[in-house]
Amino acid sequence: MVDLELNEVNPETSRIMEANKIAAERQHEAGKLTAQERVSLLLDEGSFVEIDALVTHRCSDFGMAKKVIPGDGVITGFGTIDSRLIYLFAHDFTVLGGSVSETNAKKICKIMDLAIENGAPIIGLNDGGGARIQEGIDSLGGYAEIVWRNTMGSGVVPQISAIMGPCAGGSAYSPALTDFIFMVKKTSHMFVTGPDIIKAVNREEVTKDELGGSGVHTTKTGTAHFEAATDFDCLRGIRELLSYLPSNNLDDPPTGTSQDPPDREEPWLDDFVPADTKIAFDVKKVIVALVDDGQFLEVHKNYARNLITGFARFGNRSVGILANQSSHLAGVLDIDASLKGTRFVRFCDAFGLPIVTFVDTPGYLPGLDQEMGGIIKHGAKFLYAFSEATVPTVTIVLRKAYGGSYAVMGSKHLHTDISLAYPTAEIAVMGAEAAVSFLYRRELKIAGPNLDEVKAQKIVEYRRHFSSPHRAAERGFIDGIIKPRETRPWIVRSLWQLRNKRSSLPPKKHGNMPI
Ligand code: HXC
Repeated sequence: MVDLELNEVNPETSRIMEANKIAAERQHEAGKLTAQERVSLLLDEGSFVEIDALVTHRCSDFGMAKKVIPGDGVITGFGTIDSRLIYLFAHDFTVLGGSVSETNAKKICKIMDLAIENGAPIIGLNDGGGARIQEGIDSLGGYAEIVWRNTMGSGVVPQISAIMGPCAGGSAYSPALTDFIFMVKKTSHMFVTGPDIIKAVNREEVTKDELGGSGVHTTKTGTAHFEAATDFDCLRGIRELLSYLPSNNLDDPPTGTSQDPPDREEPWLDDFVPADTKIAFDVKKVIVALVDDGQFLEVHKNYARNLITGFARFGNRSVGILANQSSHLAGVLDIDASLKGTRFVRFCDAFGLPIVTFVDTPGYLPGLDQEMGGIIKHGAKFLYAFSEATVPTVTIVLRKAYGGSYAVMGSKHLHTDISLAYPTAEIAVMGAEAAVSFLYRRELKIAGPNLDEVKAQKIVEYRRHFSSPHRAAERGFIDGIIKPRETRPWIVRSLWQLRNKRSSLPPKKHGNMPI
């Protein structure tokens, strides 16, 4: 942002001002804010300090020598959000489509280095066509330098990307390496190559929305975590997300200021979870009832809705929450849910956020599609992530915990710290019907006209064995069977006693997660 004083205006600056005005109007007509407007709306008022405002590109090919652009199409600098330091960059789509040149990439790398060294989050407001095509290897190399820093900064400082326009090539890959991606409905897109190039290369006709609109990425691919209605909502969303996160992997997250009593009981919860495992219920109601002031920021809201993930606070401490959602696909774990859960657990673990898990799942989803899609390797990632987590972990088994999903969803065997269960919990290798069909297949084969009766009787017997959490509690796999109304006090107390937890992994270069 070059500050031009009115008394300095000469014909050249007046021409630049006029061009900027037209460019800003074009952004507004497209339903987008300008890069300058985005920066001011994101940060605390008056806190922005711009760096490298006078940097220009060095390209002389393809007529570029005549184009002198102060700042070279990206705004970089630092400022505050809720008085906490953050570093940011914002592409200016009105300058060569927000494309990233060698020098523009250097500006971004400079603030990324500062953010990593000073332990503050990096926010990228992306709105551009990737590496600047006129520069060839120079811009390509520049983008590769950015993705290297995305990787080096991963797990050190939170990295948040907003996709606020058409983002191709590096402007899609670099955000994909960051922790969270916001997209704006209608105006933002993410793809490796845009529709024109796809048409030229593959002769395929596809719209920007079909290829990489916010709907595609927040529901199908899961590449993006949040969908905002407007630029303004997107920027407000980033501020909200940051309120739950520490500035770096060594800091604590900001403490909340809620007066919500830690010992608050919710008597209605005693009858809320239906004992009949076939009846679904909305686990989000349980989460909202338990967390401080009912404030829950859901992550990946429209992707793999059978597993809920999000941030909240208990007793003013930030936590990550995972919960099986029986009202969507019965809360099964499938490939998408495994990927969603893995990524979330790893983020929480990297940044010291305790994990609270609510379990009610019939298990991994059986079927050819899932097996062919690699459910084994994707499901294994989720096991790996929970096993590797060293942050405080608290698990509450609400109802079904069958098979591999019992193990993966924060079980004691994966070294969860506190494991609790409702009286309605059922912990077994599989559901009663499937187990009876397997265990008594010979008896059932010869049952003839009595088949239904015999089967029903065996199901009752099996349930008697497994329909309560007592067997698990007798073995110490469940630390306590609790009254549902007392869930919040239990969680707050558990997190309090785990607050100084110190645990580390065996020394190694890095593990080999089944990627
Ligand atoms: C130079 C670019 C550009 C680019 C867009 N422009 N992308 N200039 N380099 N990468 C320019 C356009 O020429 C145009 O200039 C202006 O920006 C606006 O672009 P439009 O095409 O008119 O806008 P729109 O229709 O909205 O389409 C936007 C787009 C499309 C989808 C981004 O421009 C596009 O497909 N661009 C190419 C994207 C691409 O393939 N990038 C991959 C780079 S490789 P004028 O002067 O006409 O207004 C890469 C790899 C990095 O990034 C690897 C990292 C590891």
